[in-house]
Amino acid sequence: MKCLFVILALHLYFCHVSAVLFRLNSTEYVRMPPLYHLDPYEPCVYKPNGLYCTVEIDLVSDGSTDEGNELMEMIREYSARTETHFNHTRLHRGICVTDICQKYLAQNTTEDLKIVLEGCLNSSFWEKYKLKTRINEDLVCKNKNQSFELEPADIGVAVIVICLVILNISGIIYDYFNFKKKDHEVNKLLRCFSIRHNWLKLVAPVANRNETRFKRLKSFNGLRAITIFLVITEHAILPFMVALDNTLFLEDMYHNILYHLYLDGTIVVQTFFIISGCLLAYYLQIWSEKKDLNWKMIPKGIIKRWLRLSPSYAVVLAISSTWLRLFGSGPLWDQIVNSEVQDCRRDGWLHLIYINNYIDNSICMIHSWYLAADMQLYIFGLVLLILVQTEYARKVALAVIFVIALIIPALHTYVQNLNAYFLPYPESIRSFFVADPTFNHTYKRGHTNLASYILGLVLGLLIHKMQKEKFNIKKYRKFKFLYWAIFPVGIGVILCSGLFYMDGASPPLLLKAVYSGLVKPVYGVLVSLLILGMVFKMENIYRGILEWQGWTSSARVSYSAYIIHMLLIRSIIGSTTTLFHMTFPYLMLIQVGTGILCYLVAFPFWILIEAPIAQLVNLMMPMKDIEKVKSN
Ligand SMILES: *[C@@H]1O[C@H](CO)[C@@H](O)[C@H](O)[C@H]1NC(C)=O
Ligand SMILES: *[C@@H]1O[C@H](CO)[C@@H](O)[C@H](O)[C@H]1NC(C)=O
Ligand SMILES: *[C@@H]1O[C@H](CO)[C@@H](O)[C@H](O)[C@H]1NC(C)=O
Ligand SMILES: *[C@@H]1O[C@H](CO)[C@@H](O)[C@H](O)[C@H]1NC(C)=O
Ligand SMILES: *[C@@H]1O[C@H](CO)[C@@H](O)[C@H](O)[C@H]1NC(C)=O
Repeated sequence: MKCLFVILALHLYFCHVSAVLFRLNSTEYVRMPPLYHLDPYEPCVYKPNGLYCTVEIDLVSDGSTDEGNELMEMIREYSARTETHFNHTRLHRGICVTDICQKYLAQNTTEDLKIVLEGCLNSSFWEKYKLKTRINEDLVCKNKNQSFELEPADIGVAVIVICLVILNISGIIYDYFNFKKKDHEVNKLLRCFSIRHNWLKLVAPVANRNETRFKRLKSFNGLRAITIFLVITEHAILPFMVALDNTLFLEDMYHNILYHLYLDGTIVVQTFFIISGCLLAYYLQIWSEKKDLNWKMIPKGIIKRWLRLSPSYAVVLAISSTWLRLFGSGPLWDQIVNSEVQDCRRDGWLHLIYINNYIDNSICMIHSWYLAADMQLYIFGLVLLILVQTEYARKVALAVIFVIALIIPALHTYVQNLNAYFLPYPESIRSFFVADPTFNHTYKRGHTNLASYILGLVLGLLIHKMQKEKFNIKKYRKFKFLYWAIFPVGIGVILCSGLFYMDGASPPLLLKAVYSGLVKPVYGVLVSLLILGMVFKMENIYRGILEWQGWTSSARVSYSAYIIHMLLIRSIIGSTTTLFHMTFPYLMLIQVGTGILCYLVAFPFWILIEAPIAQLVNLMMPMKDIEKVKSN
């Protein structure tokens, strides 16, 4: 009995300690010091002796009155709801030291700037909130005298870029004088860089395939172009979160199930794994009709793919780790851009061998986890299909691996106590997900995305087999309504992830584990069915949209758009000097605008860099015997 009582008392005690505040009304919300504040930047640094510092500060209650500070307690309890709230004890400030802390600077000019600033902040926070502060990181300070030092790496990258420019210019000039010549008469090197030639390639309706069967995969263009656009709109507002004026708007977003379409919409990236797996299996099947699959194709396939993806990726990576830091400045520049530049210098090489999704402490091109995961899965799929060739053996192998692939994320979730699906917490957005365990362990790894890839492989094999057997969809047309249901059901699946984070919901770990194992393959099955229906012309509505001719060029530049979009987003947001006031229309404006902008940049990038380098690689290492396996 006593024992029970003690347990009860302990329980009450801990409940009290770990109290969580789910909501605050706006009157109470504004009692908290704002999370972000930036003093005007340019008027400060352009003043004589102007000094502007950005700091991360921790709120602390003054030692003597720790118990009694009701405001501090409220802030702590509110911040404890990490799923949907920012940590309001960690503030970010951009301070014009020479204006605000004049008095403190004048008092003692020899003392450490950090101490001066802390004293200054202490007194202003004490005056307003009866709270004190502690500066928890090194200061980043700027004045008019900022000098940009060029480093050898910058010059190296500049030389490469200038070479590319010169080659493109010679391409134009050469083309101007020789455009009537036949393909075999021209200088092959300069032809690679001919803008006219590449432009024609870009707008060509279908890649030059004499196989009519390939044409039935046309819907991939639409899927790819739209999905990349969605991914870019998702990423477009992430950096805004480090400079938000109305933080309450974001925190309220998590309570509105409709916004979970956006917050949990990250699952759309699974579409690429399906497409990628499907193309690999399909091309290998077509190939095996004429020749045998042998193990020599494994290294050849991998090298070919590496050569196709890496050069333009390397160009973006090189710019990200050198010139990017000089593209702009402002109070947010260090946090949003320079931190990435540093990580890219340290970890860039991991990206080029496609293992960066197994490294957790880097924010260098975080979106490129997908490229690494896709490469790993490609190698896995290639090896699997070449080693296991009979139909029966493939069925068994794929079934076994699929079951394993379902269990892997569930096991991760269960053992490491992760979330059911990756939900971007406000605090982890602030730190670009470096320390988000769900992002790190189940979202971005190769082996945790295996299930969708296996589904893709199965889809590819199935399409090939059904085409061979002249599958006729006529008698299935009466299930059209079920087919049309795929899109709404897909939306329903996305919204389900949101249910795990509603206030007061605390689903058991086992349920989360099961969900995390199932959600990606369920989404994958929906996408596969959608594709299957389009290949065999189930209906004309989805097909009309996704097979629209206009997607072809956008789909071709989608890889370029994908690799450059974060660079653009970061530099746009990094060079602003004020906070953002988020509203729904503004959100739309930013997302759609960024999406379009990225495509607008991707087209020239493709014509001037991606396409020429790809042809150059083809010229130097012809590997005609392997069908070009195009994906992403
Ligand atoms: C907000 O909540 C506080 C305490 O719960 C309450 O005293 C106050 O009246 C509320 N204000 C509004 C506008 O609802
Ligand atoms: C900037 O440089 C000038 C001349 O080099 C110097 O006199 C001035 O003190 C510097 N300003 C700051 C804020 O360091
Ligand atoms: C909020 O940030 C402070 C300071 O960095 C940290 O000590 C505290 O644990 C954080 N709170 C939560 C709920 O993570
Ligand atoms: C200024 O700060 C330094 C270092 O803390 C201290 O030694 C010095 O006495 C201070 N001077 C004044 C005038 O307070
Ligand atoms: C500011 O206040 C905190 C908390 O009381 C204290 O630890 C710190 O030393 C103070 N800083 C200065 C410069 O007085």
